[in-house]
This record gives sequence, C-alpha cells and structure tokens, in this order.
Amino acid sequence: MSDPRPAPLLVLRGIGKSFLGVRVLDGVDLDVAPGEVHAVVGENGAGKSTLMKIVSGGYAPDEGSIELAGEPRAFRGPRDAQRAGVGIIHQEFNLLPERTVAENVYLGHEPVRRGLVDRREMLRRTDDLLASIGETALPADARVGRLGVAQQQVVEIAKALALDARLLIMDEPTASLADHEVELLYGLMRRLQERGIGLLYVSHRLAEVFDLSGRITVLKDGRRVTTVDTADTTADELVRHMVGRELSSYYPDRAGPDDRGPVRLTVRGGGNKKLRGVDLELRAGEVLGVGGLQGAGRSALARAIFGAAPFTTGELTIDGTPIRPRSPRAAMRAGVAYVTEDRKGEGIVARQSVLDNALLASRAVFAARSGRAARTVRVRELLAAVEVRAVDDDQEIRFLSGGNQQKVVLARWLALNPRILLFDEPTRGIDVGAKSAIHDLVRRLAREGAAVLMISSDLPELLGMSDRIVVLRDGRVAGELPAGATEEDVVALAVGTVREAAQ
Ligand SMILES: Nc1ncnc2c1ncn2[C@@H]1O[C@H](COP(=O)(O)OP(=O)(O)OP(=O)(O)O)[C@@H](O)[C@H]1O
Ligand SMILES: [Mg+2]
Repeated sequence: MSDPRPAPLLVLRGIGKSFLGVRVLDGVDLDVAPGEVHAVVGENGAGKSTLMKIVSGGYAPDEGSIELAGEPRAFRGPRDAQRAGVGIIHQEFNLLPERTVAENVYLGHEPVRRGLVDRREMLRRTDDLLASIGETALPADARVGRLGVAQQQVVEIAKALALDARLLIMDEPTASLADHEVELLYGLMRRLQERGIGLLYVSHRLAEVFDLSGRITVLKDGRRVTTVDTADTTADELVRHMVGRELSSYYPDRAGPDDRGPVRLTVRGGGNKKLRGVDLELRAGEVLGVGGLQGAGRSALARAIFGAAPFTTGELTIDGTPIRPRSPRAAMRAGVAYVTEDRKGEGIVARQSVLDNALLASRAVFAARSGRAARTVRVRELLAAVEVRAVDDDQEIRFLSGGNQQKVVLARWLALNPRILLFDEPTRGIDVGAKSAIHDLVRRLAREGAAVLMISSDLPELLGMSDRIVVLRDGRVAGELPAGATEEDVVALAVGTVREAAQ
C-alpha cells in the first residue's frame, strides 16, 4: 500500500535567527509537501521574509535544521539554494530590462555551442519552458523592460524553473499586481502545483490565502503560532492568531453632515494624456474614494492634482483659487500631499534613521529651522499612530520589514499637515491590524478638516472608508456612487456594463 501523504519536500525544524541581539525567529517548524501551497501569514515584522530568506540561502539560521527532499542542507548562499532546487521570487524583481526574456531566464547558465552562447537553443528552451506553464502568449525574444508587471513576474518564475526549482517561494507576489494579473498568477500557481512543485506563499491578502493555499502557518513575533488546514479555519480565526486580539471588522464612522466643510478642491474638464474631461469636487472633512480598473486613470488623476503630470486642459481650484501646480513642490506648498502607490520606489533613504526618513518631506517644504522640535514631536506621534515597529526611531530604516518601511513613508507625508491628502493604495503591504489603525487615522485627519481623496483597489476598503466614490474608466468619470454602494456597483461602473444613460 502506498502512503497517502507524499514525503515532505521541505522540513524546517527549530529555526532561530537574531539580528544584533534581537530575536527575529524562534524555534520555527514548518513543512511543505510536493504540490502543496503553504501560506505564511503574520503582522508586519513577524519574521516572514526572514524565514523565506533562510530557506532560500539568503541568511544562515542561527539554530535549527533545513531538510530538502529528505537531505539535510546548510546553504552557503542563494546560488547554493538554487542549485538544490529552491527558487525565490521577491517583491522587487531582479531582471535586466534591456535583455530579452530568454536572456533573463538563462542568465548565468546560457546554453553554449562551440564556445558561444547558442541563442537559437536558448530561445527554443525558453519557449518550451513558457509553454510548459501555459504561457504561450509571451515571446521569448521580447525585451523585459517592455513587459507589464505580471509578465515580468512570469519571467521571474520561468527563471526559477529553468534552474529546476522544486520549491518556489513567493514573498508578497501580488502586492504590485492588478486584479486581472492576479488571476494570471493564480492560474500559473495551479499549474506549478500540478507539476508537483511545492510553494511557500507570503501574503497580507487573506482572501487570496484562502483561495490558493492548502495549509496556513501563522507567525507572530518570530514564533509559529499555529499551522492549520485552510479548509478548517476562518479569516476571523486567522486574524486572532496574527494579531493576538479581536479586531473589529468595522470601519470608522463616516462623515456626518456637520463634518462636511467647504469645497477645497475642484477639477473642471481636467485632461491630459491619460485623462479626459474630468470633473470633480472635494470638500473638507470628507473621504472621496476613487475606484476603477488598473489603467483607468486613477493614479493619473492624483498625479495631475499633485503637479507631477499636470492637467493640460481644464481648471483646478484649491479653496476657490484657480491654480496650476506645475511641480509637486508647488502642490505641496499649496497644501497637497500625495502618498504614491510606489512607496518603496519613491525613496526611502536606506542608511538613514526611521526618524530622518519620516522628516524628509517636512524638511524639504518647511526650510526654516524654526519649528523643528515641534515637527519632530508630530512625526513621532504619527510613527506611533501608523504602528511602526522598530527598535527605536534611530534605527536605520533598511533593517525594518517591508510593511514597516511603508508605514514610515506614510508618516512622512502626513507630517506635512496637508489640507488635501491624496492616497494611492494606502494600505498595500500593510498587515490587518495596522490597516485598521491607518483607516482610523485617515478618518481622523478628515474630521480635523483635511480633504481626502483615496484610491484603492481593495473594494471592501474603498466601500468601507469612502463618503462618496467616483469611478473612473478610460480616463473619464464613469459615475459617482453614494456611501452604501456595493462592490457590484463599483465593478459595473468600472467595466462599463451599466450604460450611463440608464443612471
Ligand atoms: N538585516 C536585518 N538587520 C536587523 N533587523 C532585521 C534585518 N532583517 C529583518 N530584521 C528585523 O526582523 C524582523 C522581521 O522582519 P521581516 O522582514 O522578516 O518581517 P515580515 O514578516 O516579512 O514583515 P512584512 O509583512 O512587513 O514584510 C523585523 O523586526 C525587522 O526589523
Ligand atoms: Mg516581508
């Protein structure tokens, strides 16, 4: 008789790791079977990425053992782990944009014929490899720099497979993907599973974790809290394990009639390369949600208001005065802050402290030395409000977990005390607990008189936070929805299944 459970592909026992005397992982056990998707969840800073780096040879564990396909392993580095069949896909890709798909896939182990790289063979193998995972639409000779994010991710995956990965690690792979791209990734993950590849999957999106995984391990403060079969648990239970307390699933109260102040911002007939005839109005005290599909013009709208890619037609007023912000600096002076979607790319200064990073924008705008102490106090409050976890605020930001770095950048913009706040995906990459703290903070800022425009692809967040929702499609306003609208309403406007005439 055969054993119903296949022998595990990966077995971790008692993994421990400290950095500068701070214990980041402590006695973590975990195993992955061939063809299993094992999700790892936990708060920002729980130790997920550190554990993934240990499995893929990036860090050596201080304690514990790693077994791959029954053999004990002590990886000497990422290359060593790769050779053993462990691939990792980081949130930031490691691709050469000027090279082709095939060149990237075979980088460092190109097929060689008579001493030269055999390009034909390389293209052929890449085509075969892509076909084997059902990616027939991606040309092996396309330049990687021209591809979208989802396709670049396929290249990363192909790269790992070209090295015969048996175990593939994905650390927040969907953080920068649009919804339809997420679907592509799901399909690809299922095909990898069918090939018997084991997947370790880190994500803050619990809906995804439930769709994809067979088992879930929860980490908290570097320890394994539990490992459960996905079918036997609920989102509430997971959150309880992650956060260690009940978390209200409620969003803060919306603006009442008294909260709504004067009109802060108007856009009339706003247009540029990506936007056409946009009209909107934003009042002090309210949160205006902006919905729509990727490419519909949501970020373009925020960038236009912020002067980063200004309107070329139409009129923009702030507090009744027509203004033409031609640069972010001009917009910042007019009291506008924009927390971009790309908070990492926007620049953390890796070797500076948490505090200096958080003070960066205020120092640029308020050049005067006066008020410095007050600004520092304010920034410290904000760092606490968004729940940044660091040893202290003198710690260099590069040592913080991904989500905590994002929170610092968020605090940096809030420190400007802006009258108009543009948020682009404010809680992406941020854990469930801190997410609700950020929601409370956004609402508090509105209540204190800020006008908030919030772009979010997270529909529950968009619906839960907004007093009104404007939905964009193809660079235009497709329609406006009141508080109480449903996900279906937003989607219908976003994809255009509701005819405007019928509204
Ligand atoms: N090289 C390092 N030096 C010092 N501390 C580090 C280093 N790498 C990680 N840490 C610390 O280890 C802890 C765990 O970080 P890790 O990146 O593993 O968290 P995470 O669970 O992946 O969080 P997130 O959800 O935010 O990505 C954090 O407190 C972080 O500050
Ligand atoms: Mg991480």
